Formats: sequence, structure tokens, C-alpha cells
Amino acid sequence: MDSYIVARVVHVLSVVLWIGGVAMVTLVLLPAIKRMISPQERVTFFENIESRFAWQARVTTLLAGASGFYMLMIGGGWQRLSMPGSGWLHLMIFTWAIFTVMLFLLEPLVLHRVIKRKAEQDPEGTFRKITILHYVLLAVSLVTVGWAVAASHGFILGQ
Ligand code: HEM
Repeated sequence: MDSYIVARVVHVLSVVLWIGGVAMVTLVLLPAIKRMISPQERVTFFENIESRFAWQARVTTLLAGASGFYMLMIGGGWQRLSMPGSGWLHLMIFTWAIFTVMLFLLEPLVLHRVIKRKAEQDPEGTFRKITILHYVLLAVSLVTVGWAVAASHGFILGQ
């Protein structure tokens, strides 16, 4: 098996674990917490559980980025990025960058503190904003996965 194929396998497995986890949190965990936990305790409860997933997400984001950039490096990708029809490659990098900034910078340095303060003032509103943010991230991720699979098997948008 050549190294491009190995990188592709690592890439797709990382994306499955990472975006699958985002789907689980968004579609199962958040609605269950809303149903079962009192508004005052929701955000703390959610943060305690999600902090475990955050580590899985950090590792899989790193692996997806490393394998993705490796494929670009050995597959003439830097030129591919400037070719027409390369929007899906840009979208993958954009989606990866959003999660990387959130998981490695915003969440540990800013969001955790801000969310705690906001949850004390307005627990329901804060939980609603967390839910909306997860739906947006999941939607962007699914569009990215769908377009990447279609495009890497020959689909060109607009043709
Ligand atoms: C730094 C960020 C990323 C880079 C540089 C990157 C790069 C790549 C490259 C070069 C390919 C192979 C394309 C080909 O062989 O024609 C690929 C495939 C793919 N990528 Fe990414 N990617 C990144 C992030 C992501 C993200 C965030 C997702 C999903 C949310 C994603 C999902 C996929 C999928 C589903 C495939 C197609 C696999 C297949 O059908 O064989 N990638 N990526």
C-alpha cells in the first residue's frame, strides 16, 4: 500500500471519529441534557461530559490535518489549491481551521471561562447558544464531508 493510500485511510478514519463525535454530541447528548437536567445545571453537566470528547476531537483533528496536508504535499496539492474546481479542498481546510482554533485556543483559553460566567447569568440562553453552535458546526462538517467524497471521486461543482 503506498503512503498516499495510508494517509487517506488515516484521514477518513480521523474524520469519522471526529465528526461522528460532533454528531453524537449535537443530536443525542444535547437533546438528552435538555430533557433530563434542570436549566441551572445543564451547562456544567454538558461541559463535564464534553471535556472528555474534546481530547478525542483534538487528537483526531491533528491526525486529519497532518494526513490531509501530507496528501496535498505529495499529490501536487499546492498547485491543486489554485486550480478551478478546488473549492472542496479550501472548504476542508476552512472547516479544519475553525475546529483547530476552537479546540486548541478559544475553548481552553477563553470560552470555558466566558461560558461559565454567562451560564450563571442566563443558563437557558447559554445552553441554547451552545446547541445552535453545535448545529452550525455539524452542518458545515457534513457539507464538507459530502463535497469531499463527491469531489475526490470526480464530481466538479457547476459541471
Ligand atoms: C487541513 C485540512 C485538510 C486537508 C489539507 C485535507 C486534504 C485532503 C486531501 C488531499 C484529500 C484527498 C483528495 C484526493 O485524493 O483527491 C482529502 C480527502 C478527503 N477529506 Fe480532507 N483535508 C482536510 C480536512 C478535512 C476535513 C475537515 C474533512 C471533513 C470534515 C475532510 C474530509 C475528507 C474526505 C471525506 C475525503 C475524501 C475521502 C475519499 O472519498 O476517499 N478533510 N482531504
